Amino acid sequence: MRLGVCYYPEHWPESMWEDDARRMKALGIEQVRIAEFAWSRMEPSPGEYDWGWLDRAVDVLGAAGLQVVMCTPTATPPKWLIDRHPDILPVGADGRPRTFGSRRHYDFSSPSYYVASERICSAVAERYGKHPAVAYWQTDNEFGCHNTVVSYSPAAVGRFREWLKARYKTIDALNRAWGTVFWSMEYRSFDEIDAPVATVTEAHPSHRLDYRRFASDEVARYNRMQVEIIRAHSPGRPVAHNFMQLFTEFDHYKVAADLDVATWDSYPLGALEEQWFAPELKAKWLRTGHPDFASFNHDVYRGMSKLPFWVMEQQPGPVNWAHWNPAPLPGMVRLWSWEAFAHGAGCVSYFRWRQAPFAQEQMHAGLNTPDNRLDIGGSEAAQVAEDIRAVLAAAEDANASIRSKVALVYDYEAKWLFEIHPQGADFHYPRFAFEYYSALRGLGLDVDVVPVDAPLDGYRLIVVPPLPVVPADFAERLTRSGAQVVLGPRTGSKTADLQIPASLPPGLLASVLPARVWRVESLRPNVTEPVRLAGSASLDDGVGRHWRDFIETGASDQDALEICARFADGHPAYVRSGAIHYFASLFDDALTTRLFAGIAREAGLSVTALGDGVRVSRRGGLTYVLNYGEQVHTLADVPDAAFVVGSREIQPQGVAVYR
Ligand code: GAL
Repeated sequence: MRLGVCYYPEHWPESMWEDDARRMKALGIEQVRIAEFAWSRMEPSPGEYDWGWLDRAVDVLGAAGLQVVMCTPTATPPKWLIDRHPDILPVGADGRPRTFGSRRHYDFSSPSYYVASERICSAVAERYGKHPAVAYWQTDNEFGCHNTVVSYSPAAVGRFREWLKARYKTIDALNRAWGTVFWSMEYRSFDEIDAPVATVTEAHPSHRLDYRRFASDEVARYNRMQVEIIRAHSPGRPVAHNFMQLFTEFDHYKVAADLDVATWDSYPLGALEEQWFAPELKAKWLRTGHPDFASFNHDVYRGMSKLPFWVMEQQPGPVNWAHWNPAPLPGMVRLWSWEAFAHGAGCVSYFRWRQAPFAQEQMHAGLNTPDNRLDIGGSEAAQVAEDIRAVLAAAEDANASIRSKVALVYDYEAKWLFEIHPQGADFHYPRFAFEYYSALRGLGLDVDVVPVDAPLDGYRLIVVPPLPVVPADFAERLTRSGAQVVLGPRTGSKTADLQIPASLPPGLLASVLPARVWRVESLRPNVTEPVRLAGSASLDDGVGRHWRDFIETGASDQDALEICARFADGHPAYVRSGAIHYFASLFDDALTTRLFAGIAREAGLSVTALGDGVRVSRRGGLTYVLNYGEQVHTLADVPDAAFVVGSREIQPQGVAVYR
């Protein structure tokens, strides 16, 4: 459990650096991330490197006893490079190249950028790879930020054709897989295939899905190149990338597979404002963030990180980039930090040391104000450092890794598929995955977020948010796990080529769920369908939203499913076959929670209804309780708790840690 900070020595007079480093250390910070946007200072003109300033910055930090997280600067190619190689600029869906003047203005498929990146990464890695103060690396910065994964450049289209050739081998196979006979879209050779963009009406969905898969693979290829260069010059120093859960245009699992540390950037207030949350929720959690949003991300990145995951950038105060940018309530920066550690983080690093008085992010808070006084976030970071000492002193296993009994399957392709073929305009995959996650967390359950190909043995409860494409061995792995399994609507509804399975959904899951989804409908946001549980006296136990699967349950008794709930018109809303449960709609939060509670109990898990905004996590021998709510929360039912941080009475925005 360590603290870090993001620092930009190139933004400040050199005369300030020593004092900055000394104050960081005094605050309890151990790691300092630098240089991810500093290319124009590292190489002011082509081939003319200026390392002097960076050498001195690294030395100053090292001399103060700080560890440096060195970054490759490829998120911001300098002006001279763009002028020399305009093909570096990515091309938007409107067919126009994006322009210089902000950041991430590069195309993952541009051959000149690949070469330029190899060159600058080698130069940085060679220079600092063995520096005693450099302990970690970060590749680039937030792949996918500002919608920069998919490009429609000639270079991208050329590489896409190669990608298609490798996948389908023959053009006939591609034509069959996509179903291009529809609307006379058949191709005679791979070279005839363009990017699926600027068509008269929607472009072919299988074509689009493959373009997204291709674009995602391009990110993984580009990152791998950087990782290999760093490893060659800096053996033994872990390599990280800072993901953002909001930027899901590429498969984070695939990129993380090449890294040592998966890290993510946590901006709970900005995320709440920019995401799907209803206006009431945006108002309710305005200054705290939603109690499950950061935690969902922690569990996502914990699962894909080989070493303990980190929060590479932690919101320290108001940000600049959301539509509205409220200030966190006092206590929240500390609470967010503890939430990360409770979920297994190895480091929480604040963005940024000091607010910049110039350029795009001048309205973004830091731990210090632009005139260099400690801001609220800074004092809270200092308190976290003190808490960490108490926690580490009290529990030898405080840094333990986490393995939960509940798994939630989370998949990037599913997001792209629903974006391409939503069938209901607001069918937003991350939202539905989040809602299932949130229901589980509200019951006090710890959750592992896993990819669809993860080993599932050892879990008691496996929750699968809508997952159209399932792997061939999924049914077998689910049953072999012995867990109770909840499948969301639309699971198994498509083949990998994005076609309807021959036997209709649930397709490859039919062996464990003998049902036939013969019709579907999507529901407008103002339309809900009442749901009644089997044997319930109530007419209406909750509602289905967004979507309905119409399920045929099989004629013979032998393969008949148990119908656990019906819609008002009699169609099944929730069916099960042994341990496999299938929801035919997305139920409201209360009904989802109620159903999950029952199924979790059946799985032998103990569930607790927590207070509004109260969340619990367990790591090592310690239990962490976080209060996002407005009321004091009293821990009445743990008489033997020995408190390491806080006490039985947890104030709003407070934290308690007990053994
Ligand atoms: C992140 C980004 C940082 C900074 C920050 C502001 O997405 O990685 O460079 O822009 O947002 O909140």
